[in-house]
Amino acid sequence: MSDQRAIGFFDSGVGGLTVLREVVRRLPGESTLYLGDNARAPYGPRSDDEVRRFSGECLDELAARDVKAIVVACNTSSAVALPTLRLRYDVPLLGVVRPGATAAALATRNRRVGVIGTIATIRSRAYFQAIKEEDPFIEVFEQATPDLVPLVEAGRLDGPLVEDVVRRSLEPFVDGGLDIDTLLLGCTHYPLLGNMIRHVVGPNVTVIDTA
Ligand code: DGL
Repeated sequence: MSDQRAIGFFDSGVGGLTVLREVVRRLPGESTLYLGDNARAPYGPRSDDEVRRFSGECLDELAARDVKAIVVACNTSSAVALPTLRLRYDVPLLGVVRPGATAAALATRNRRVGVIGTIATIRSRAYFQAIKEEDPFIEVFEQATPDLVPLVEAGRLDGPLVEDVVRRSLEPFVDGGLDIDTLLLGCTHYPLLGNMIRHVVGPNVTVIDTA
């Protein structure tokens, strides 16, 4: 008999719902349990110690509910905390950094990839490492874009003000900048701004998200 237990999902807030949505679409028969730490979000501007501690507390909650696997649907947590947290649990933990890096490495034709994420994610260099492990000849250009999460949390996804913030945040990549052909959205909130991000970087850049 198949394992009827739920798959647990964890994010610092609502962004991980973009990952949950994809899993539910592909595996409609699975039960799911979602934990968003809205009380302490955003994690992106926090120290690595805080991200590790808060992530561990949330994973403890999910593990206590006898889930069969946990998806760490938060890039900041995947990048900063997952390597140490893996040692603490028997239940399989799945992060979002490796799948995103693999997808970006497969998508790029000119081997020039941009990565945007929270301050903590970019500071960790996790995407740089993971993409280089896929293909060491890919040039990786990382950019912290801390102004995007507050937009999503406020439900502001389009309009002139949003375009202005997205344009300023992605400045190095706008309109053919740095000659990237692939942009990896290294934050689970960013797919909700996907249309605006695609508009700003232009049609020659493939936008990949970690979901
Ligand atoms: N969900 C987080 C991530 O994917 C972004 C929000 C936050 O800073 O907590 O990195």
